[in-house]
Amino acid sequence: MSSSNSSLVALETSLGKSTIRKWMSQGNTEFEAHNFVLPIFVVNKDSGDPIEIDSMPAVYRHTISSAIDFIDPLINLELRSILLFPVMDVKGIQYMDSVDHNPVLRLIPILKRRFPALYIIVDVCLCTFTLDGHCYMSDNDSGEKISKLTLDTLGKLSVAYARAGCDMVAPSDMNDGRVSIIRKTLNGHDYNRVALMSYSAKFASNFYGPFRDAANSSPKHGDRQTYQLPPGSLGLALRAIGRDIDEGADVIMIKPGLPYLDVIAEAKRRFPDIPRAVYHVSGEYSMLRASADKGYLQIIPALWEILTCFKRSGANIIITYYTPIILETLKNSN
Ligand code: PBG
Repeated sequence: MSSSNSSLVALETSLGKSTIRKWMSQGNTEFEAHNFVLPIFVVNKDSGDPIEIDSMPAVYRHTISSAIDFIDPLINLELRSILLFPVMDVKGIQYMDSVDHNPVLRLIPILKRRFPALYIIVDVCLCTFTLDGHCYMSDNDSGEKISKLTLDTLGKLSVAYARAGCDMVAPSDMNDGRVSIIRKTLNGHDYNRVALMSYSAKFASNFYGPFRDAANSSPKHGDRQTYQLPPGSLGLALRAIGRDIDEGADVIMIKPGLPYLDVIAEAKRRFPDIPRAVYHVSGEYSMLRASADKGYLQIIPALWEILTCFKRSGANIIITYYTPIILETLKNSN
């Protein structure tokens, strides 16, 4: 008799009742508010209504005052952390650290005063500022990247955000050497307390399209394939993560989310000692939203399945535009 015929292992025993289904899920269906980070786009206007984003239904670009009104009720739902993105009304790197032009620099101190416990992360990249929409500084004539200037500029931008009072900077630019230069520059200005989350395994993805509409940060020529990872490469992703840990990252990120669960799982296996964040990116947000809006599926159960799979694969921080709806659902289920 073959062993499979004689086996008494059954699956049915584990599936029928919700309690044993939970046990079998080994904690992967359990979430708390601190697992979620809410990305917020901020335009350079002190007051006025939030502005719709065509490719991201129900997500808005906020003015300073509408951002505060948006966040306020979420604090009661236990919102713990936000990730800020400036949307510039004028392009040019010279405006990046000007409080008159970069709205995030004005918003951080206001948020810190109103919501002292809110953990504020800021995306650090140059693509919202540069004239050509690329994530590096380049020579005006040749268009070639200037590495040293790029790194120095990222360091300077990080210090500006630290001075404004952020808790963590999150470099998303993917230039070689950025984590160590940002860490050194922050420490050099006595901002040792400011943490660093590196967008380490950031793939050159088609799923960032809606974000680039929202942040007005599309490259004016070419694409980002010379600095973001090829979707087929697990090896480069793991090397990038290992390098960023060596350079001083406190948290590493894998981005996008759902198509890259194997990268999260392998990162957990190789680097178990560092928290892993996953960015459920704009295109993933809009895909789910669009099919729910068409009635093809129900958003909450589908979303919960996605979150469970993020956790099962090894992510402990989930950055998602769905954070408000998630916090509401968590609150109602308690
Ligand atoms: C900036 C940046 C991007 C995203 C986060 N930071 C866009 C890009 O690299 O083109 C994408 C986030 C999303 O799609 O939700 N470099």
